[in-house]
Amino acid sequence: MKPPATIETVRLRLRSPVIEDAQGIFTTYAQDAEVTRYVSFRPHRSPDDAREFLRRCAAGWAGDGPFTWMITQRADDRLVGAIDIRPQDSRVELGYILGRTYWGRGFMTEVVRAVSDWALAQPDVHRVWAVCDVDNRASARVLEKAGMEREGRLRRWTSHPNVSALPRDCWCYARVKETA
Ligand SMILES: CC(C)(COP(=O)(O)OP(=O)(O)OC[C@H]1O[C@@H](n2cnc3c(N)ncnc32)[C@H](O)[C@@H]1OP(=O)(O)O)[C@@H](O)C(=O)NCCC(=O)NCCS
Repeated sequence: MKPPATIETVRLRLRSPVIEDAQGIFTTYAQDAEVTRYVSFRPHRSPDDAREFLRRCAAGWAGDGPFTWMITQRADDRLVGAIDIRPQDSRVELGYILGRTYWGRGFMTEVVRAVSDWALAQPDVHRVWAVCDVDNRASARVLEKAGMEREGRLRRWTSHPNVSALPRDCWCYARVKETA
């Protein structure tokens, strides 16, 4: 799969990352303990952590993923967050994060819908899915608003180290391609 380097929505532009994004990633979301509460990584301690993340992004784009886009505002080009897709067979998994200043404006719903639409338009993709911590109500709501269905509770699914050292229960959400 070779996703496009950019995807545009009404208010936002998704673009592949560049190394110069390190400071923006660090400042906007990655150092923030509240933003990173339900994600799989520890808050960044310096822009160097973001640079290491960006090197993994470059490797993903050079290979089979994950494919990460920076989310920017079309109006002023400001970096507001990130979304990635991880293709596997006929499935594509999503993950996303947004700076706290930008929460509650419908941004991530707009982005998840656009990326899901793109993925399901690919002939070989039949399922777009995501998981979120059972306590991450904002994320569950985004997935519902973006047209996904809650399929069940995955017990002890994955580690969210900023909440607990033990694997956490997650909701599994998906949208699938309708059969003809
Ligand atoms: C989850 C996240 C991406 C949501 O982004 P966002 O752009 O603010 O989302 P939207 O504005 O599109 O929608 C948020 C919805 O959640 C609701 N919501 C927010 N906080 C909530 C809470 N504590 N309890 C219940 N609902 C909540 C909002 O009211 C809104 O629903 P509504 O439109 O019906 O009112 C953002 O909060 C975030 O980056 N969180 C930290 C990182 C993260 O958790 N990533 C996901 C890992 S699975």
